[in-house]
Amino acid sequence: MKSRVPAFPSFPLCVVTLLFVLQHCGAIRWLALSQINEHINKTQQCKTIPGLVSSQAQLCRTNLEIMHVIVQAAREVKKTCQKTFADMRWNCSSIEAPKYLPDLERGTRESALVYALSAAAISHTIARACTSGDLRLCACGPIPGDALEPGHRWGGCADNLQYGLMMGSKFSDAPMKIKKKSGTHANKLMHLHNSEVGRQALKDALVVKCKCHGVSGSCSIRTCWRGLQDLKEIAQDLKSKYLSATKVVHRPMGTRKQLVPKDIDVRPVRENELVYLQSSPDFCTRNEKLGSVGTQDRQCNKTSSGSDSCDLMCCGRGYNPYTDRIVERCHCKYHWCCYVTCKKCERTVERYVCK
Ligand SMILES: *[C@@H]1O[C@H](CO)[C@@H](O)[C@H](O)[C@H]1NC(C)=O
Ligand SMILES: *[C@@H]1O[C@H](CO)[C@@H](O)[C@H](O)[C@H]1NC(C)=O
Ligand SMILES: *[C@@H]1O[C@H](CO)[C@@H](O)[C@H](O)[C@H]1NC(C)=O
Repeated sequence: MKSRVPAFPSFPLCVVTLLFVLQHCGAIRWLALSQINEHINKTQQCKTIPGLVSSQAQLCRTNLEIMHVIVQAAREVKKTCQKTFADMRWNCSSIEAPKYLPDLERGTRESALVYALSAAAISHTIARACTSGDLRLCACGPIPGDALEPGHRWGGCADNLQYGLMMGSKFSDAPMKIKKKSGTHANKLMHLHNSEVGRQALKDALVVKCKCHGVSGSCSIRTCWRGLQDLKEIAQDLKSKYLSATKVVHRPMGTRKQLVPKDIDVRPVRENELVYLQSSPDFCTRNEKLGSVGTQDRQCNKTSSGSDSCDLMCCGRGYNPYTDRIVERCHCKYHWCCYVTCKKCERTVERYVCK
């Protein structure tokens, strides 16, 4: 079957050997599944899907039904990342594979975020798919043993976080687990660490949710279950970890080489901090090699003092105003009984884009 996913252009470092392209540069290539249109329902399709390493293709063959959940996860990563970073200079456009993918393999703060979010998203989507009955090999998560407050009892269907974590990490960590002698050990360690940070953020997002029961909503009894927060909440958590990420170096520690913080006193890397090996550009101007699309023509907010302010977004280059027309419902009237009529009003708003 012919695939509709375009091939990735290889970036200079990777041109050296073709095998290398497939094995190392592709650590996050499974995100390209977001662009797949066909329904994966035959094992023969597994070997034609681009971007999968051999153990991922193997998983596809042995657990075919999980593939549509992974495709969905790849789409979630893209959508959530772009929404969460809409107010930043780096707006996660790197994920628009295949255009700026090199950016995500360079070991930057941005790649740290994408690996963490991807690892969280894949396990999140699988755990939720178990709950909704989309996967035959898993069901609701276990009922916790701990006691609840009076008037509350365990019930409903818990999100199966355990299965999600197990299958998700098996799939998304596979490219980093390939044994190969190369200078990329540091990158692999970085990606694995950040993926683990993403999964920890997911574990932290497992909360007790309850639903009311009782005569006419009296709420005399509540059933509760362990459910995951939405991915956008987890993405917010990871965004703050991205903002405070730690630069590390690959250095001998004891008998092995490990990642250790670069500037701060000697301490091991913390389990809940994102780490990166290479500094990022400021993302102000276009530089395809560095994966920066620049901020020209980006919308900015004149009254904001945050990262979407015209000063910060436009890097001091200034901005151009333009007027935008908005059509809204207005002069709404309630008619007895029971409908509402409205008029359409147009108003103009001033907006700004970076020079
Ligand atoms: C597989 O997917 C294709 C495309 O959606 C569909 O036409 C076909 O009926 C499916 N086959 C099976 C066995 O479900
Ligand atoms: C991100 O910024 C680029 C460059 O200005 C722009 O072309 C793109 O549409 C933006 N993407 C999103 C999802 O906002
Ligand atoms: C601009 O920023 C202000 C202050 O943060 C906010 O209240 C407003 O909604 C923003 N406007 C737009 C168009 O995003």
